[in-house]
Amino acid sequence: MCGIVGYVGEKKAQDFLISGLKRLEYRGYDSAGIVTIDEDKNATLVRAKGKIKNLEEKLAKEKRDDKIGIGHTRWATHGEPSERNAHPHQSGSIYLVHNGIIENYKELKQELGKYEFKSETDSEVLAALIDSFYQDGKYPLTNAVVQALKLVKGTYGIAVVSALNPDEIVVARSGSPLIVGVGHNETLVASDASAIVGHTKHAIYLNDGEVATIKKNSIEIKTLNAEPVSAKVEEIETNLAAIQKGGYEHFLLKEIMEQPESLTETLRGRVRTEEGIVHLGGPGLTEAELRKIKHLIIVGCGTAYHAGLLASYYIEQFTPEITVETVIASEYRYRQAYIPEDAVALIVSQSGETADTLACLREIKKQGIKTIGIVNVIGSTIAREVDGGTYVHVGPEISVASTKAFTSQVIAMVMFGLTIAQAKGVKKSVLRPYVLEIAEMPEEIKKVLGNVKDEVEKIAKKYAKYEHAIYLGRDTAYPTAMEGALKLKEISYVDANAYAFGELKHGPLALVDDRFFEVAFLPEGALYEKAVSNVQEVLARGGHVLAVTNVEEFDLPVENVVKITTSIEIFAPVLMNLVSQLLAYYMTVAKGYNVDQPRNLAKSVTVE
Ligand code: F6R
Repeated sequence: MCGIVGYVGEKKAQDFLISGLKRLEYRGYDSAGIVTIDEDKNATLVRAKGKIKNLEEKLAKEKRDDKIGIGHTRWATHGEPSERNAHPHQSGSIYLVHNGIIENYKELKQELGKYEFKSETDSEVLAALIDSFYQDGKYPLTNAVVQALKLVKGTYGIAVVSALNPDEIVVARSGSPLIVGVGHNETLVASDASAIVGHTKHAIYLNDGEVATIKKNSIEIKTLNAEPVSAKVEEIETNLAAIQKGGYEHFLLKEIMEQPESLTETLRGRVRTEEGIVHLGGPGLTEAELRKIKHLIIVGCGTAYHAGLLASYYIEQFTPEITVETVIASEYRYRQAYIPEDAVALIVSQSGETADTLACLREIKKQGIKTIGIVNVIGSTIAREVDGGTYVHVGPEISVASTKAFTSQVIAMVMFGLTIAQAKGVKKSVLRPYVLEIAEMPEEIKKVLGNVKDEVEKIAKKYAKYEHAIYLGRDTAYPTAMEGALKLKEISYVDANAYAFGELKHGPLALVDDRFFEVAFLPEGALYEKAVSNVQEVLARGGHVLAVTNVEEFDLPVENVVKITTSIEIFAPVLMNLVSQLLAYYMTVAKGYNVDQPRNLAKSVTVE
């Protein structure tokens, strides 16, 4: 969603701010802006609706050597996308960029009667509130920010500068991430580590309720109650290559194709094939605690939810004594669900910042239930608030549509399930096939991607004419179908929905006609014949079926087949999902849409 950058040092702030904002483009935005301040206390504020190149065009006439500044990419919440509503917002000498939502902005606005507001945003109200405490420099900027934040209800990550003191930035967070990059004679600010990668390897992750006063050679952090905080400087793991396209036309294709490597990272040091066991250190549960688990609740949104659903099918297969329930975070946070004491919650999130998932985590913790994170972004809020966790380590996922994270989330959760099963004394002969297949997955993913990529591209070109699609599967292929449909709809804007094969006759079969094509996932296994009968029913009604299967002697008269040749059986649906990813990618390319930044969507959904 919105992105924040900031710079104070000896170089040209404009250069860093623009390059940082470009790195945050992937998060989704509809306008952008920067402000820099020179030594004579002159501020240069430039904002533009639309892409950063629009901002750059305007900046070409406003080139400055200023050494301090802040910048922002905005994803509209209050007020339409426009230059007026873009950040930074100015009030007096104060300039502010803000991620999050100020819930009580209307009341605050009323109290700030003397101010004239130029935008419709909640953020401008916060700028005015800070200005009202700052009183043209009568009080230190940090104090003014703290006073203002004490009156605010809602979520925020902010960076504030004053034209009157061009050597400091004040930043604060509550519910929206902020990172302070520690450089040599320079200090950087970003809402996402990718903006500062390559400038420094050292960063401080602010916690909720903390305010930092940042100068080029100093960072002073306090709580809102003025208690000093001794900051921990952490190493940024990401490198520049991880946030570049590396020769691919789009990040999405890069991220699909790098799954052999990203899954290898997820598995590193965690799979012991000789012993037929997995070992996860992160969750931090003792054998006795693991043995006691009777219920698993898996919480996530979108793709993370689908990953949880798929993992739940697997975990139930080999862990007989536990129930597994996968829930959508935005629903679960408002349900009056009873969670038994002997439950553990898996909190699944690529970004580690999703507002609904975070809210569930906090709610579940309040009930005294142990929470385990299945998170990608290191140092993210969810990663820090869970009781224990397993990072999936897939590296930065830049494209808005989640691909490599899904694959690794599924396997990481299955590994957690295996850890419980091992502790509960489930026979090794039951668990070993899962462990061995998990170990083989990276190599098999590589094989499958290599074999099907060009074929799927050709099929995608044929199907690009459709505006409607139905994805179908049974058992583990059902969550696979759900994830496939989500991928297609979010980037190609095709109205794609998923159904369990068994549900067809209860309604969706009525849809089958020439406006639709159907993607049928048909893994070998006990339910294969039943799924085949369902496909026959679709074919009998003139369906345009694309079958995805690992059955060698597949001979149904469907329009197209993508055959997966692999030694993997249990996790074949995870491999079939690669076909969905490629299909969505190539259909979007064929339709000419923006692959990496689909309309209306943001990478990290930090508001409810
Ligand atoms: C779909 C997609 C979203 C995310 C969802 C949760 O491709 O990316 O559905 O999966 O917004 O995001 P995280 O995993 O960051 O919590």
